[in-house]
Amino acid sequence: MKGVIFTFLADMVEEQFGLEAWDSILTETGLNGVYVSTETYPDEEVFRLVEATHKATDIPMNDLIKAFGQYAFGKFQKSHPDFCNPEYTLKEFLLTVDSVIHVEVKKLQPDAQLPSFGYDNESENELTMIYSSPRKLCMLAEGLIAGAAEFYNTQYTLTHDKCMHDGSDHCTLHITMH
Ligand code: HEM
Repeated sequence: MKGVIFTFLADMVEEQFGLEAWDSILTETGLNGVYVSTETYPDEEVFRLVEATHKATDIPMNDLIKAFGQYAFGKFQKSHPDFCNPEYTLKEFLLTVDSVIHVEVKKLQPDAQLPSFGYDNESENELTMIYSSPRKLCMLAEGLIAGAAEFYNTQYTLTHDKCMHDGSDHCTLHITMH
């Protein structure tokens, strides 16, 4: 996983729970917390840090990963404003994640391991994002979508019908824009 994900996690915990909270999470995991955005670190380290954050804050795992996704979207949007065209609707934006945003990320950082999204464009105000990744970070995807909806000032409902955590080989995130 790219260092940027680790630094966003550290930022979120420090902002919301204080520097001491992050320090004790590092002590708990035995990690030194030195992460360079563009470097790659073992996935297992980010999972350990999230697990320790869950224990330290009592926030249920799924809620924590989703909250982190929403927070990370705000950070990505600020660091790459060009990826989030304010003229787009939420749906138009979401349709660019797989074919534009993650493609550009991969050009900038060829060793990034991006998930894959397929799309089912059911109707004008509906969209299903079909997520697959060996990391099974569908709750992170849900949080990033929540962050994007916030940025595009759009109300939506989401149903997570199929899930890789229930044995499916992909997740379906069905979004209805209101
Ligand atoms: C709603 C919008 C987005 C969604 C749903 C999304 C989804 C995801 C997910 C689920 C992952 C975790 C990796 C995995 O599942 O295997 C990921 C990783 C990543 N995404 Fe996105 N993403 C979005 C927007 C963005 C934006 C705007 C950027 C801008 C730079 C970005 C850059 C990255 C990077 C750098 C990683 C880490 C890759 C790695 O560690 O190798 N994403 N994305």
